[in-house]
Amino acid sequence: MKAIEIRNKYLDFFKRHGHSVIPSAPLIPENDPSVLFTTAGMQPLVPYLLGEKHPEGTRLTDYQKCVRTNDIEEVGDNRHLTYFEMLGNWSLGDYFKEESICMSFEFLTKELRIPVERLSVTCFAGDRDCPKDAISAEVWKKVGIPEDRIYFYGKDDNWWIAGEEGPCGPDTEMFYDTGKPACGVNCQPSCDCGKYVEIWNNVFMEYFKDKNGYSKLAKKNVDTGLGLERMTMLLQGKETPFDTELFRPVMEKLEQLQKVDYIESRRIVAEHLRSSMMIISDGGRPSNIDRGYVLRRLIRRMIRHLNKLQINLEELSTLMDMNVDNLKEMYPDLEKNRERIKNVILEEKDKFVKTLTHGEKEFEKEMKKRQEIGSKKIEGETVFRLYDTYGFPPEVTKELAKEHGYEVDLRQFNELFKKHQEKSRLGSEQKFKGGLAEQTEETIAYHTATHLLNSALKQIIGKDAHQRGSNITVDRMRFDFNCDHKLTEQEKKAVEDLVNQWIQEGLEVTKQEMSKKDAIQSGAECMFIEKYPDIVTVYSIGEVSKELCGGPHVKNTKELGTFKIKKEESSSSGIRRIKAVLIK
Ligand code: SER
Repeated sequence: MKAIEIRNKYLDFFKRHGHSVIPSAPLIPENDPSVLFTTAGMQPLVPYLLGEKHPEGTRLTDYQKCVRTNDIEEVGDNRHLTYFEMLGNWSLGDYFKEESICMSFEFLTKELRIPVERLSVTCFAGDRDCPKDAISAEVWKKVGIPEDRIYFYGKDDNWWIAGEEGPCGPDTEMFYDTGKPACGVNCQPSCDCGKYVEIWNNVFMEYFKDKNGYSKLAKKNVDTGLGLERMTMLLQGKETPFDTELFRPVMEKLEQLQKVDYIESRRIVAEHLRSSMMIISDGGRPSNIDRGYVLRRLIRRMIRHLNKLQINLEELSTLMDMNVDNLKEMYPDLEKNRERIKNVILEEKDKFVKTLTHGEKEFEKEMKKRQEIGSKKIEGETVFRLYDTYGFPPEVTKELAKEHGYEVDLRQFNELFKKHQEKSRLGSEQKFKGGLAEQTEETIAYHTATHLLNSALKQIIGKDAHQRGSNITVDRMRFDFNCDHKLTEQEKKAVEDLVNQWIQEGLEVTKQEMSKKDAIQSGAECMFIEKYPDIVTVYSIGEVSKELCGGPHVKNTKELGTFKIKKEESSSSGIRRIKAVLIK
């Protein structure tokens, strides 16, 4: 079965079971600066898992594009991917353990026709915070999983939470037995010898964790995730995702083009190429910070491995076209954005080639210095300087050094690098706190106007018109909010007039620090309460707006000029988008 058939079967199956099919959110989360990329199907749904009403109902299903780059260095082995697709289904206070497990079992055995003998499951063993999940185990037994293939593990294996705080709960995981021999008498799903592969994770979200511990959520939810690439590989009896149709064309082309044979490098090229193309398609651009930096690393690592395979970089264009042609049925946006994606990657390639040439020259100078004093050692400081000043990757320094018979002190480099990373991490946290990447007079004004628009929408459209996202540049503001209809001309005009009235009234903007609890009780508006620290800053604009926010803002609304709505359009299902400008 091909990946796209598995995806379609999944969505159809859950549709038949009363779920609404919702679109995949973009890889770059619009309204959540706390994460770099969308890393799970549940991520865009957090507000709904916390109790907000979803416009599509209480049963949802989708395929979600995901990027996880915490183990980027491991890509190249036979299972790690930075980009993957997660199929998921959700119950928002609707069905719970029994129905969720019955549906999963039916899908695996009837739709995908996996023999029951291939399946094992794991459930939560219980601890101080939460009792043993005997209910899930009972249901598994009832549908036909024998008791000796039902395992119980603790929080490390059978508990799911995204990060440190947030909605969470015990999960039950399904494993596929590849038929490989057991690695020992104790071989079981938790062991990573490769006999058992995890295929699906159903999280029973009934808790919320914060610094004070666990509390119960108002509603019990179910959140499930099934990795498409892995399922495809298993159903096709393949050893790795790179042997499936998702990667085959590019892998084969690389085999033809390579002058030296490194399977690991071929996998890295194929994987990083797909991943960077998906990120760029969703609006990503390489840069030196945050998301852009992750993308830059992906592209540069891919190029290094093309070099290692001794493939002419001119071939990149062909490889990208092959990828688009191969994946466009699954991701039509790739076709739409084909030229833009190619341009971004080729531009980054040119930059990197320059960096490499430049860095090599510097490296030669360093070698000369050492020849003069008869040393065969390159200190970590030098490796770091080449990296920090010229962007020359330490791996390349190491390779060159080895070729010329030099020794490299990578330990010292790693220490320096860690310090440097810590600094930039603090820097980007600082930035996320403020929420604004560049703070100019214009962006600050737009930020204040955003608060006014947020309030005006609540007065004109309704109390439930909550903010769903916002994006500010020096030239305009963009604002997403819940609303089930296209705004009428009258509504748009009323919103515009109200914001302008407030601007003309010359309202003071004031700032106050208070506990998160007091802030919420005082009725302050906020998008993701769980994302804020215990002490928060609340900005008030006269009597008309009160929001949790990092600032900065103008001092008085008089400074804003005239507010004008340029466009009102749909952003996604149940969400509208307004683009507006301030005219001074
Ligand atoms: N959130 C869970 C996971 O990422 C299930 O979707 O595995």
